[in-house]
Amino acid sequence: MSTSNGTNRRVTIPDIISRKGGEPIVCLTAYSTPMAKLLDPHVDLLLVGDSMGMALYGMDSTLAVTLDMAVAHGAAVVRGSKRACVIVDMPFGTYEESPPAAFRNCTRVMAETGCAGIKIEGGAEMAPTVKFLVERGIPVMGHVGLMPQSVHAAGGFRSQGRDEETANKIVADAKAISEAGAFSIVIEGVIEHLGRTITESIPTVTIGIGASATCDGQVLVTEDAVGMFNDFTPKFVKRFAEVGDVIGQAAADYAAEVKARSFPADEHTYGKK
Ligand code: KIV
Repeated sequence: MSTSNGTNRRVTIPDIISRKGGEPIVCLTAYSTPMAKLLDPHVDLLLVGDSMGMALYGMDSTLAVTLDMAVAHGAAVVRGSKRACVIVDMPFGTYEESPPAAFRNCTRVMAETGCAGIKIEGGAEMAPTVKFLVERGIPVMGHVGLMPQSVHAAGGFRSQGRDEETANKIVADAKAISEAGAFSIVIEGVIEHLGRTITESIPTVTIGIGASATCDGQVLVTEDAVGMFNDFTPKFVKRFAEVGDVIGQAAADYAAEVKARSFPADEHTYGKK
């Protein structure tokens, strides 16, 4: 199959950079090989998000996701994909301490997963770290606006930039991360005009999640988009399917057939004519 860059090779970081203002970039999260296989033909980017803490592990935030989890799931997604550019989200506590500490943990993620780049949350305060990583060959995706790793400091998962001061700060954060050399920036949970303002004012591609259709691309947590995660549905999620209902129905049908001894049938049984 030919990719959106017209070849059979994997989408690269320069391919993503070149999409500024062009055809919207399609990104979904993935944490496993089977999900990566299903999504790979349809997306430019697969993000191994720390949303796995909530969507996969049943945690109530992303804070308890570890580096080992990011490495294991990142490697699984790289194994399951052939064309998408795979980015791994750095877990809370693995990059904030200092640029060298971030570099050590990011190189481990890249070496052990085979991913193309990493994502870190944070605004202007993280710009020196982004610069340090980029200058040493690590492609960085930034993440501004609603930052789930700061959920406690922010007082919950709520949209950002509703007053002038916080709106200005988010724009300044995006500019700082862009100037530091990030190849793309996720903008999460901000009011419409901020997605547009940031996208129009930086040369870096923006990937929106609850940041309006004006961004250069969009990302959703796949479990949200396909209806497999019901604990919490932010306003910005559209459910494109109800896979959770399909799985529940399959489990109910299986249970009924086991109880009725109609499964396994002859065709599922070895040596039975
Ligand atoms: O962890 C994640 O999945 C993310 C996306 C929602 C952007 O950060």
